[in-house]
Amino acid sequence: MLRALERQRAIYIKGMSGEKPTVPFHAGTLREAARQKMSSTTWAYIDGGAGDESTMKTNLDAFAEVRISPQMMQDNAAADFSTKLLGLDLNFPLLVAPIGALDMVCADADLKVAAACRETGTPFVFSNQAGVPMESCAAAMGEVPHWFQLYWSKSDELVLSFVKRAEASGSKAIVLTVDTTLLGWRSRDLSLGYLPFLRGLGIAQYTSDPVFQRLLKEGADQFLPTGAPAATPKINLTTIANLLQLKSNYPGGLWHNLTRSEALEAVRLFVNIYSNPSLSWEQVRWLRTQTQLPILIKGILRIEDAEKAVEAGADGIIISNHGGRQVDGAVSSLSALRNIRKALPRPFPLLVDSGIRSGSDMFKALALGADAVLLGRPYAYGLAIDGQSGVASVINNICNDFELTARLSGCRNLNEISESKII
Ligand code: FNR
Repeated sequence: MLRALERQRAIYIKGMSGEKPTVPFHAGTLREAARQKMSSTTWAYIDGGAGDESTMKTNLDAFAEVRISPQMMQDNAAADFSTKLLGLDLNFPLLVAPIGALDMVCADADLKVAAACRETGTPFVFSNQAGVPMESCAAAMGEVPHWFQLYWSKSDELVLSFVKRAEASGSKAIVLTVDTTLLGWRSRDLSLGYLPFLRGLGIAQYTSDPVFQRLLKEGADQFLPTGAPAATPKINLTTIANLLQLKSNYPGGLWHNLTRSEALEAVRLFVNIYSNPSLSWEQVRWLRTQTQLPILIKGILRIEDAEKAVEAGADGIIISNHGGRQVDGAVSSLSALRNIRKALPRPFPLLVDSGIRSGSDMFKALALGADAVLLGRPYAYGLAIDGQSGVASVINNICNDFELTARLSGCRNLNEISESKII
């Protein structure tokens, strides 16, 4: 389905009456406009990365280093960039990446993103750290498909409960993220001493889960690492203000939770349970026996890990360095893609994210062997600028830009986007 020229024309015609689009088109300007809309803590969490943020820079540099070599006179009047991916019918090879704690940006953030995905027909990968339970987001997606992204916690029973809920609410795949078995050393968040989950943000999949609720009754400390003291902050006015914020973010709201201890206990349980540094390929093999849904492994950068994922039963891989939020100094996803595609030829599904900022980035990723890309931070910026409509604009802008880049480079379909079109 071609859309770019129609939308381009509509924008220029509106411009004749002095109407200008709210959401910037240029990646740098989009980011800057979002910064103006976010609090310092939200900006740090959404925009920041690990350490000196050199991985974030490498991601962008890697795209800039690849150049497109456009081919002329290919008659691109008719083109079609639709594709099939693990049972999904995509108009464009783009999905919306899982971003946790989006409820820092605005209320009902995940629902707004889901509505924008429905509006644009773009599949959404729901985050394990969403601020809205997956069932509500699934309803907001309508007929547009979604996947569920899973973090493996310390309770296999909780993991399985998430997977079964994802199946029941219509998820078309499970995306297991394996690069975050520990939270990266995120300089900006550390400088502000701010982690959204401690304020009750980004934990809705847990608080809405029956297994989590049962574990809560059994006590948060059962998952404390042996010998670790139960951490409690010093009590002062700031602590009280933050506890009130946590209670107001917790299901039921401030008045319901004011005199109850559940919100605080839930956060303590979450902190004790959410990461599992012992995760291994054994658990992936076990997961393979527990669900019929396709499984994708997200966060792979090495050939040997990609091969192990395949051996463990993965149906696809998402090559990603988590947008530079985990290991500072890591390789770019784009360079990893180039290597992994050589080891795992088509038709094995490879997706890539980390640094996709434009339609031309999308083109380069596809030319280097990706079957689809995941859009990350730019849609969170759009959300901050203009809610649902901001997210829809960012998605449309990238897809329109991609369509024109591909056609102007002499490609009429995805098969024609190959290494021969880049240098
Ligand atoms: C993420 N990402 C992420 N990934 C995941 O599997 N589960 C998650 O909950 C999150 N949460 C999250 C929060 C924030 C604020 C960001 C920016 C990213 C990683 C995300 O899916 C994707 O890999 C990166 O966003 C890609 O990098 P760029 O293109 O956004 O720089």
